[in-house]
Amino acid sequence: MDVDTYLERAQRLDTVGIDFEEFGRHPLSNDALRCLRYMHDVECHTVCYLRDLLVTPAHRDPEVTTFLTLWNYEELFHGEAIAHVLEAHGEPAGRQRVSRHRRQMGPKDRLAPFAHGLASWVAGPAFGAVHMAWGAINEWSTQAGYARLAACSGHPVLVELLRRIMRQEGRHIDFYSSRAGALLAQSARARRMTRWALEKLWTPVGASIMPQAEVRFVVSYLFGDDDGREVARRIDRRIDRLPGLAGLHLTEGAVERLAA
Ligand SMILES: [Fe+2]
Ligand SMILES: [Fe+2]
Repeated sequence: MDVDTYLERAQRLDTVGIDFEEFGRHPLSNDALRCLRYMHDVECHTVCYLRDLLVTPAHRDPEVTTFLTLWNYEELFHGEAIAHVLEAHGEPAGRQRVSRHRRQMGPKDRLAPFAHGLASWVAGPAFGAVHMAWGAINEWSTQAGYARLAACSGHPVLVELLRRIMRQEGRHIDFYSSRAGALLAQSARARRMTRWALEKLWTPVGASIMPQAEVRFVVSYLFGDDDGREVARRIDRRIDRLPGLAGLHLTEGAVERLAA
């Protein structure tokens, strides 16, 4: 996926025909809703992740900034769509919930742009590879998380909504993983640095901004059983195929650590 193809295809999530009122008649389980709150908060945080990335050399590459602009746009509508599901269950969501979440973020959030700036300075020319590999892993995990939630919920309206979101996550995966593969293949230093960063610093999507209890719940609920663990191993096999990243067992390791 090159950036021009993505520029042609990127769009606001299509929710035409999604019957959100059906959730009023047939609500989701408490566990599925707890999971969706997490996903809502993480999708809606994308613009803040973008803030942290734009202080790094990522902003100098116009292909990357074009991608990030569209990525941020699409993720916003994933958050909006999940907000509609929560609202259909009588819960506050969207800007009301996001505003509360952002107010509660501690100093770690205020320091995040500085931490990213510093980390990218330390990584030097290898930063692009770290960013793209990290992005690929997070998009693989996100798409897998939605697939697991669809399967666990068994709710036809949610299944259809998540199918549409997953299709867009697939395009994010294509961009991040193809670029990560190319950058890692070019440089031994990039391979070493990316491997080190992932081994030492990577945590599951949302873990840096959500309470630890919620991270543990979501990982346990989606990936804690046999099917979930197999999905985690499948993500690890995809990571293994990126140059220099074989054998990290990141996602299976996270499930081992976090699942109850
Ligand atoms: Fe998303
Ligand atoms: Fe995504």
